[in-house]
Amino acid sequence: MRRAYVNTMKLVIPAISENERMARSIVCAMVSCLNPTMAELGDIRCALSEAVTNAIVHGYGSPEKPGEELLYIAVTLYADRSLKISVRDHGRGIADVEAAREPLFTTDHSGDRSGMGFSVMEAFCDRVEVSSEVGAGTKVTLYKTLS
Ligand SMILES: Nc1ncnc2c1ncn2[C@@H]1O[C@H](COP(=O)(O)OP(=O)(O)OP(=O)(O)O)[C@@H](O)[C@H]1O
Ligand SMILES: [Mg+2]
Repeated sequence: MRRAYVNTMKLVIPAISENERMARSIVCAMVSCLNPTMAELGDIRCALSEAVTNAIVHGYGSPEKPGEELLYIAVTLYADRSLKISVRDHGRGIADVEAAREPLFTTDHSGDRSGMGFSVMEAFCDRVEVSSEVGAGTKVTLYKTLS
């Protein structure tokens, strides 16, 4: 049987860097309905930021037509105060998910990235699931139970 949820939302927005902040604000506003602590809300904000940034930077990279690629964010709040947030892109995908999740692993050669995004998500959430297919895209699901 599926767990009872108290609220759910789907957000489809262009994968542009300006929308990283907007996605955080919208998701945090919704999670606030469960009266999280400031620390819990901060954790969710950080983890979501990393997932959204990855989709924009790595999933879609330098698009030829910026704004046409979309980010799909789904949030479900459950009655037991657990929540699930998924961030999906239809970008280039990850060849080796296990390696990508290792601390300090990055495919970025500009020096701007430290390879710590997945580690941050793991540190701030109870569980992180990643499914990806090269050429098809990536879905990252964050799970957390609030106190
Ligand atoms: N949505 C995605 N699509 C394609 N590749 C991804 C995606 N998310 C992550 N990756 C790959 O996984 C690697 C590790 O991601 P992670 O977020 O841990 O580090 P980073 O983004 O390289 O650096 P940082 O997050 O510290 O700025 C990335 O370098 C990239 O190769
Ligand atoms: Mg990252």
